[in-house]
Amino acid sequence: MGIISSGILQTNLNGYILKNPIITASGTYGYNNEYSDFVNVSTLGAIVTKAITLEPREGNKGIRIAETKAGMINSIGLENVGIERFLEEKLKVLKDENIEFIMNIAGSTIREYVELAKICDENKIKAIEVNISCPNVKAGCLEFGTEENSLYELVNSVRNNYRGILIVKLTPNVTSIEKIAMAAQKAGADAISAINTLKGTQIKINCQNGEINKTIISGGYSGKGIKPIAVGAVMRIAQVVNIPIIGIGGIETLEDVLEFFAAGAEAVEIGTANFTHPNISETIIKELEEYVKINGFKDIEELKKELRS
Ligand SMILES: Cc1cc2nc3c(=O)[nH]c(=O)nc-3n(C[C@H](O)[C@H](O)[C@H](O)COP(=O)(O)O)c2cc1C
Repeated sequence: MGIISSGILQTNLNGYILKNPIITASGTYGYNNEYSDFVNVSTLGAIVTKAITLEPREGNKGIRIAETKAGMINSIGLENVGIERFLEEKLKVLKDENIEFIMNIAGSTIREYVELAKICDENKIKAIEVNISCPNVKAGCLEFGTEENSLYELVNSVRNNYRGILIVKLTPNVTSIEKIAMAAQKAGADAISAINTLKGTQIKINCQNGEINKTIISGGYSGKGIKPIAVGAVMRIAQVVNIPIIGIGGIETLEDVLEFFAAGAEAVEIGTANFTHPNISETIIKELEEYVKINGFKDIEELKKELRS
């Protein structure tokens, strides 16, 4: 298989240049080099960190993950070390090991997001991904990402306080993802990533001697089952915005990646598949490079163009 550094996979996300379009998704890849037993993390296009909040969070109690037939449900509750410890401990490893990263940020109020954006700006963090699937405390538990005006206000406030690459990550739990995407673009986003998890529930039923025991987990559904929803979302968003889209949802193979490119994505993020195949991102990068070469494309841009024609 080819060497990963030949440049034919170079990807431009509105001025944010990645060596290849394969990124690992937030919450499935730790903060920096946690996967280094399996992968040379610095060869990836980028990793997205676990969501970082202003204060550390312990996350939810009880059962947090459940496997389903075509993916998983998680109810982690944004457990993370908080911005201070991230800057003190995690950032150094990212820099020392030359790992390209996008920082995923989350909050409950616009003030919290703005505070985080300012800190990222001061620390010259090159790219952030704004997780807008968090409850908007002011709007009474509505997620920021489900209402255009809240979304616009949030993204615009972050934009005014952060000069790096601003990626807005959309939730699929909406009526019109196109309207939300347009609001993100209008508010100054440099790129859009889609999709975050879908709302789902698993009820495990155990019956013994006529007595029923139920284990219920509600949370975000991810993995292979959501891929058609994600591809459809990317395709619809691509029709209404002109900023780059990063496709996310159920990616497990090179064919899945090509499908997202055909739908209009410039890059992709791989999430749940990392848990079962921790080296999947590196494998797909090698396969993608091989695919471009074997099929005689000049580079990945030519392949994407052909896939969309
Ligand atoms: C265990 C777990 C934790 C996640 N944590 C975050 C998070 O902190 N921030 C975020 O924006 N998305 C988070 N996600 C969503 C993923 O980044 C991704 O958008 C989603 O899982 C769909 O991709 P996939 O089907 O490839 O997993 C998480 C997903 C999983 C499975």
